[in-house]
Amino acid sequence: MSLLQLDNLKTYFDTRQGTVRAVDGVSLKLEKGETLGIVGESGSGKSVTCYSLLRLIPQPPGRIVSGTALFDSVDLLKIPKIHLNRIRARKISMIFQDPMTSLNPYMRVGAQLIEPLLIHKICGKNQARELALEMMDSVGIPDPKKRYSLYPHEFSGGMRQRIMIAMALITKPELLIADEPTTALDVTVQAQILELIQKMQEELGMAVILITHDLGVVSGFCDRVSVMYCGKVVESGSADDIFYRARHAYTRGLRKSIPSTQEKGSMLYTIPGVPAQPVGPRLPCSFAPRSDLKFTDEEAQMDAEYIEVETGHWVEVHPASVENYKDYLK
Ligand SMILES: Nc1ncnc2c1ncn2[C@@H]1O[C@H](COP(=O)(O)OP(=O)(O)OP(=O)(O)O)[C@@H](O)[C@H]1O
Ligand SMILES: [Mg+2]
Repeated sequence: MSLLQLDNLKTYFDTRQGTVRAVDGVSLKLEKGETLGIVGESGSGKSVTCYSLLRLIPQPPGRIVSGTALFDSVDLLKIPKIHLNRIRARKISMIFQDPMTSLNPYMRVGAQLIEPLLIHKICGKNQARELALEMMDSVGIPDPKKRYSLYPHEFSGGMRQRIMIAMALITKPELLIADEPTTALDVTVQAQILELIQKMQEELGMAVILITHDLGVVSGFCDRVSVMYCGKVVESGSADDIFYRARHAYTRGLRKSIPSTQEKGSMLYTIPGVPAQPVGPRLPCSFAPRSDLKFTDEEAQMDAEYIEVETGHWVEVHPASVENYKDYLK
């Protein structure tokens, strides 16, 4: 039994421009202690997928149209809110995309750290303070006793991110969802934060979902990777499958766009065209306008399928494009 199994999740937003199919049939699986990377460009539905899991989507305009999200055999999308809150407090933690706005500027960091423990009555105030100091030390904040009573603005960006991690881990969750935890940081600090998440993961034996738009980050950090495009998972497999043996045109485009894989002095590669919009008529293969594939009207009516190209490595293929893919699908 997997720790988390998400099947056919669809989350839509009703807007004046029409219905935004932000997440359009996503399935994911995560085992205990495993690290799953979710990659994809801005707007592909990475955050909405994770927010939906914890039912943090504003409704309206959002609505969860379909799907099941089994966590430890209970469906997070169906259980009563009170039960979900208990799971959120103790078993699943999230580091949000924007650390600068996720900390309360008027509250000392110590008080923010112990808040989840006190609100959910996990322990008393003295024990919470001890735990917070221990956690600050584990995440590499020097002199925790002194820093416990400082305000967020008295910390650097990297240190604030460490506080966010400490806050997420203080309840010793079984699953940590980290939504772009390093985007706002410079490269050296990024590496330190990822190492820190990895160290804490080993100590606590927790599973991690790492959301990022950087394919380079997932290759060194994740066991498995799901690539999202326009609200769908277009390819999934082990980190090596995705990094070295990508089959989908979009994943290969992403791989080619990593600057360090390109020849020195050559023009930087960018995927041609603009990202597909998850509003308006549904395209059979949302990447088609940006790849070399052309569809007849009849072909455009067919739905895409998933093909397992090697054990555990799945790629979304449109029936009309199998011919174009055949060299890759062997
Ligand atoms: N409250 C909302 N109302 C309307 N549309 C929304 C809302 N929240 C998200 N969306 C839309 O859902 C789609 C997916 O958004 P999401 O935030 O999941 O993208 P993302 O992959 O996390 O991108 P990024 O890398 O920029 O964080 C986007 O088209 C976005 O505009
Ligand atoms: Mg996001």
